[in-house]
Amino acid sequence: MAGFAAAWLALREPVDAISRSSALTAELRAWRTSLGPLSVLDVASGTGANLRYLAPQLSGEQRWCLVDHDAALMACGHRMLQPWRVEQDLALSLEWRPLDLVKEWDSLDLPAFDLVTASAFMDLVSSAWLTRFTHRCRLWQATVLVALSYDGTIRWQPALAEDARVCEWINRHQCTDKGFGPALGPNAATSLAFSLRELGYRVILQPSPWRLEPTHAALQTALLEGWIEAVKFIADDSLDWLDPWGAQRRRWIEQGESYLQVGHQDVFGRL
Ligand SMILES: C[S@@+](CC[C@H](N)C(=O)[O-])C[C@H]1O[C@@H](n2cnc3c(N)ncnc32)[C@H](O)[C@@H]1O
Repeated sequence: MAGFAAAWLALREPVDAISRSSALTAELRAWRTSLGPLSVLDVASGTGANLRYLAPQLSGEQRWCLVDHDAALMACGHRMLQPWRVEQDLALSLEWRPLDLVKEWDSLDLPAFDLVTASAFMDLVSSAWLTRFTHRCRLWQATVLVALSYDGTIRWQPALAEDARVCEWINRHQCTDKGFGPALGPNAATSLAFSLRELGYRVILQPSPWRLEPTHAALQTALLEGWIEAVKFIADDSLDWLDPWGAQRRRWIEQGESYLQVGHQDVFGRL
């Protein structure tokens, strides 16, 4: 599959940060208070947005291992974190580990991690890979926080009759193979919650929707163009309606009249 651009991750990072469930962040902080130095695994870290959100919340001494298969994103993240670390003044040690999560997930060895976390990732994986993930977390007896899995809901304001059709195609596209086998897409968070519960975890699932205003024009535009591409790629019926729909959406974004809600879910699990 095509990789994720650093520019795209930078565009979504501030919106992700304000959309994450504050209730689950509070649960995480409460869990953390009883522990000393903390070891954290960030799965599919990209440029490190999840670390930048969580490390200040967790406070205290932390050892992070960030894994991803995209060396360019990791190099970009490494550069971004230099000034950020000085600014934050946290007791952090960091290891960037290049790793293909499909081929090498099982090679991640002990010592175990206290916390396994991921953001904007779990909707890419298959049911089989999710099971490998949760079993490994259980083996480590790790607490789990997985944020910002897409939940299948897209609401535009003003609405158009074709919105539901676009959403249906996008959700089908979400379930295509992203390198892990058929992706869980909109079912990711509920599947993760179910699998963790089966393994004895106490699990909380919370919504973390993006609520995009006209000021988020760049992110709205990037989503719109990506979704149009996805529909063209996957749809097998006539798409005469798609260009006029896209043109009207572009006009509303340019005129500062477009609102967009994209549903996500966060999952917190502890033993
Ligand atoms: C949407 S990005 C999220 C990045 C980051 N967690 C964030 O919140 O900005 C998904 C990430 O999954 C990584 N990824 C996808 N497939 C992977 C694989 N097979 N092995 C390792 N990383 C993978 C991509 O390189 C990318 O960094």
